[in-house]
Amino acid sequence: MSLSTRFSDRYGPWALVAGASDGIGEAFAHRLAGAGINVVLVARRATVLAALADELRRSYGVDARCVVEDLTSEAMMGEIRQATDDIEVGLLVYNAGAAHGAVHFLDRPAEAAIGMISLNCRGPVLLAHHFGKRMRERGRGGIMLLSSMAAMSGGSYIAVYNATKSFDMVLAEGLWHELKPAGVDAMCLVVGATLTPSMLASRDSFRGYPGIMQPGDVADEGLAFLGRGPLWVAGEHNRALVGAMRPGSRVEAINGLSHATASIYGLPPVTVTGEDFNA
Ligand SMILES: NC(=O)c1ccc[n+]([C@@H]2O[C@H](COP(=O)([O-])OP(=O)(O)OC[C@H]3O[C@@H](n4cnc5c(N)ncnc54)[C@H](OP(=O)(O)O)[C@@H]3O)[C@@H](O)[C@H]2O)c1
Repeated sequence: MSLSTRFSDRYGPWALVAGASDGIGEAFAHRLAGAGINVVLVARRATVLAALADELRRSYGVDARCVVEDLTSEAMMGEIRQATDDIEVGLLVYNAGAAHGAVHFLDRPAEAAIGMISLNCRGPVLLAHHFGKRMRERGRGGIMLLSSMAAMSGGSYIAVYNATKSFDMVLAEGLWHELKPAGVDAMCLVVGATLTPSMLASRDSFRGYPGIMQPGDVADEGLAFLGRGPLWVAGEHNRALVGAMRPGSRVEAINGLSHATASIYGLPPVTVTGEDFNA
């Protein structure tokens, strides 16, 4: 899928992809570079990241910068700021954060849960806050947080992952409502089973999972929905499942909750319009 010039005007001149070295994040980097947007790539593997940056420069004629950093580290925000303070980041895609393996909560060290909370909650909060502020000042931009089908309910084996992905979904929905009036498009992209290197490394038989998707198709669907509404579920199969688990309009639910909060605190009610994934 190729993105329009309108897309790069709205979300360029730079995008930052957190978790960009393979799978869905790499697909985002290709799509964005293909639209003429320069890309900041963040992940831990330096050589993979450098090779991708070279490929993007060569194939699309864009600029690319690498930030080799663990998104859970204390130094992360400082490193990202150092690489981006002199450029305009118009789009943030927070992609990193899959569950690796399935183990009961009590049978994994508590530190593993804290690490996942750091990657999937602290990371998106810090990056959305930093870049969102600048986008709001400019009156344009986009923030996409990746969530999962696992966010729709609690469940055994990946209980903390489910909870962190719910956090990402609910945070993105709130940001959609707060930032839309300021001209910034936030959204949650709900992802189902997708053939990424990290999922295949966890379990190769995953290939046959019903409705399994390719990373490029997930990225295409997310980018096509940006600016249209608060939440998109990638894949028809997944949309049907989420539609059954969470029927009703997300737009109405988000507006309703925002109005209730505004009324409790004596603030003006704001209604934001948008498209639902299940409309
Ligand atoms: N694949 C699926 O079936 C599936 C299903 C539902 C939801 N999702 C969602 O889709 C997103 C991508 O998942 P994925 O399967 O591609 O796996 P992933 O393990 O999230 O890896 C994706 C990218 O993130 C980077 N990354 C991971 N941990 C990092 C860290 N601590 N610091 C910096 N970079 C890090 C990895 O590169 P480095 O190793 O180089 O750091 C890689 O480039 C996640 O948010 C996940 O929740 C995926």
